[in-house]
Amino acid sequence: MAEFEPVIVAFVCNWCTFTAADLAGTSRLLHPPNVRLIRVMCSGMVDPKYVLKAFLEGADGVLIGGCWPGDCHYINGNLKARRRVALLKEILRRFGFEEDRLWLRWIAASEGNVFAETIKEMVEKIKALGPSQVRQKLVA
Ligand code: FES
Repeated sequence: MAEFEPVIVAFVCNWCTFTAADLAGTSRLLHPPNVRLIRVMCSGMVDPKYVLKAFLEGADGVLIGGCWPGDCHYINGNLKARRRVALLKEILRRFGFEEDRLWLRWIAASEGNVFAETIKEMVEKIKALGPSQVRQKLVA
């Protein structure tokens, strides 16, 4: 039987984490190919519905990547994202979902190596958790 390969959906801020992902690519830093990037203008525009939809459509993990606090191009979008993620984790927990499937990370444009390491770490953690309950039902 093939090893479980998690599907990770990553909502990444255009100004920092997307650029870090691009830098990781141009620097030829290796990371697992499990991540599907969705470029957004700011982590603060990631509606909680987007995250829930990703899980409902079979994502095993969701990453939101934003600028470091103080560096958000829209002043405080990343701080709004942080509050939303805290609430989303609570909702996931109440529905019996492992909250560790949802990650929020600050990754600056110059941190291509941090992006690659974050993806590696997240893939390992999600592999340890196994397929999400929704995905198991979609496959069954
Ligand atoms: Fe990057 Fe707001 S512009 S998190």
